Amino acid sequence: MALLSESKIAIIGAGKMGETLIGSLLEAKAVSKDDMVATAKHEERVAIISKKYGVRSTTDNRDAVKSADVVILCVKPQAVREVLDEIKNTVAVKQLLISIAASVSTAYWEKHLGKNVPVVRTMPNTPCLIRKGMTAICPGQYASDDHLRRAEDIFKQLGKTIILDEKYMDAATGLSASGPAFIYIVIESMAEGGVKVGLPRAIATELAAQAVFGGASMVLETREHPALLKDGVTTPAGCTIDGIMELEEGGLRVTLIKSVVKATQRASELIENN
Ligand SMILES: NC(=O)c1ccc[n+]([C@@H]2O[C@H](COP(=O)([O-])OP(=O)(O)OC[C@H]3O[C@@H](n4cnc5c(N)ncnc54)[C@H](OP(=O)(O)O)[C@@H]3O)[C@@H](O)[C@H]2O)c1
Repeated sequence: MALLSESKIAIIGAGKMGETLIGSLLEAKAVSKDDMVATAKHEERVAIISKKYGVRSTTDNRDAVKSADVVILCVKPQAVREVLDEIKNTVAVKQLLISIAASVSTAYWEKHLGKNVPVVRTMPNTPCLIRKGMTAICPGQYASDDHLRRAEDIFKQLGKTIILDEKYMDAATGLSASGPAFIYIVIESMAEGGVKVGLPRAIATELAAQAVFGGASMVLETREHPALLKDGVTTPAGCTIDGIMELEEGGLRVTLIKSVVKATQRASELIENN
């Protein structure tokens, strides 16, 4: 396949995540404005995207797909069937179709397209908005290593990427895509603790967020097991162990485990994959 910078990209469904892709690909100069087209359901949204990014935008999905090398589907899972029915006669096997829709399997795309179109399923998360995201990527049965690399080239503009077997994609959704929401609650709650012991709220929020950022960076950069890093903070008879006892009594650990399990279950139910 051609280089990303030489490809024409169609973003179908320029909502929150679609706009993130448009903004990041343009900012990174990975794709030029002239090589990008975006669609949305409503004319108002189309006008906003055109004005903000200077890319051609339309409500006509077929027209957008026609001239693209790579089609990125960014509609909600519930809108996938409608879009599929609209574009299936326009999509060609020489194109690469990338989906960011939760729950929708590559087999579903392939079956409803009715031809051997290379499909790559991805699961980004909202920190992609500031290019600090994580995107899980898996190939459909007609996608080659070149197609996977192309998808990686795109999502690397938004943060990190990881290639997974498709059987892990719902779990990646429950952990990596829902995870930021869980962590916002952790940050908010730690900041409330700071407020309770007298810190101004803005300072408490900054300290809590930086503690999460620093902790996450330690895990990623040292590659130490989180339990060992926790032990390193926990001085005998110090203050951290008293805090940890409260966490254990409150069931934080099991609550977080269950939250990922539930979100994963829900990720497999958003649409019926048949
Ligand atoms: N949000 C997340 O954290 C996240 C993370 C990973 C993956 N995802 C996946 O990303 C996808 C989009 O999520 P989102 O949060 O970006 O949703 P969103 O903000 O609601 O965006 C969806 C976009 O699709 C457009 N649309 C709806 N029907 C359409 C149609 N028939 N043709 C063309 N465009 C159409 C909508 O247009 P209008 O604006 O004109 O209505 C809207 O701009 C979902 O499948 C979700 O599973 C989301």
